[in-house]
Amino acid sequence: MAALRSVTRLVAPSRSALRSSFATRSYATVTEKSSYDTSASRPPIPASKTTTVEEPVPSKDAKIKTFQIYRWNPDEPTSKPRMQSYTLDLNKTGPMMLDALIRIKNEVDPTLTFRRSCREGICGSCAMNIDGVNTLACLCRIPTDTAKESRIYPLPHTYVVKDLVPDLTQFYKQYKSIKPFLQRDTKSPDGKEFRQSPADRKKLDGLYECILCACCSTSCPSYWWNSDEYLGPAILLQSYRWLADSRDERKAERKEALDNSMSLYRCHTILNCSRTCPKGLNPAKAIAEIKKELAF
Ligand code: SF4
Ligand code: SF4
Ligand code: FES
Repeated sequence: MAALRSVTRLVAPSRSALRSSFATRSYATVTEKSSYDTSASRPPIPASKTTTVEEPVPSKDAKIKTFQIYRWNPDEPTSKPRMQSYTLDLNKTGPMMLDALIRIKNEVDPTLTFRRSCREGICGSCAMNIDGVNTLACLCRIPTDTAKESRIYPLPHTYVVKDLVPDLTQFYKQYKSIKPFLQRDTKSPDGKEFRQSPADRKKLDGLYECILCACCSTSCPSYWWNSDEYLGPAILLQSYRWLADSRDERKAERKEALDNSMSLYRCHTILNCSRTCPKGLNPAKAIAEIKKELAF
C-alpha cells in the first residue's frame, strides 16, 4: 500500500509507534508552521501527477472554476496520493462546496469519494480542509472568483481511508473514553425525567451543539503530535458538556480522568480550534473551564 505522505514532522515517539502500525496507509499531513490556514504549508504534490477532468458540456457563457482535489485509492497501494484537477461551470453548480463535489461525483467522475449525509451542517460527515480551512463542505460557499482555483484535502493529520474520507477511529475511541452520557445513581423523586432549572440548562449552551465533525481537533497542532494521548478540543468540549450538566453525579470521576499531563494539559491555548469551528463554538473556552474546575 502507499507510503505515508510527508511524515517528516511526525516526531513524537508515541506517534512514531502509532505510525508503524499504520505504515501502509496514506496520511493527510500539514506542517507545524500553519496555525490556522492548515494547508498553506502542505508539501506540494508534483504538477506532473495532476490531471484535469473537465466540465462535461460547457455552455457559451460558462463560469469555469477549477477544483484541485486530493486523491488516494487504497486499491492502488503502490500509487502515491495525487491532486486531481476538475473544472465545473458554476452556472450549473449549486452554491456550496458540497454541491460541487456531488456534481463531480454524479456527472464527471464517479470514483471521487467523500462523506456526506444531511447537507445542512448537522451530521458533521462532510468535514474537510477547503482552501486551507477545516470546515463543513455543505456550509462552505464556493468562492465565485473563477481565476482562483479551490483546493480540497481531507482533514489534516488524519489517516486517509480514501480520497477525502478521513479515518476517525481514534477520535471516536477517545469520545467513547469520556463516557459521553448521563451518569447518576439517585432516582428522580417523582419517577419522571431528571429535570434541571433554566439556569442550569443554560450552562449547556455552546456545548450541546457540537456535531463532532473533528474540524477543531484536526486543526490543533497539539493534537497532531499527541493524538494518541491528548484528547483534543472536540472531546474536551464534550467532556465539559458532561461536567457542566447539573444532573450528572460523576463529576469527581470525570475530573480525575482528565487530571494528568496528557489528556488535558497538552492544550497550549493556540486557539486554532475556536477559529475553525464551523458551528461557531469555542472549544478553547471549554478547555479553560475544565482547567479552572481542576485548579479549584
Ligand atoms: S467543537 Fe465545532 S469543530 Fe469541534 S467537533 Fe464540535 S462542531 Fe466540530
Ligand atoms: S486552544 Fe488548545 S485545543 Fe485549541 S487549538 Fe489550541 S492547543 Fe489545540
Ligand atoms: S453533510 Fe452533514 S454536515 Fe455537511
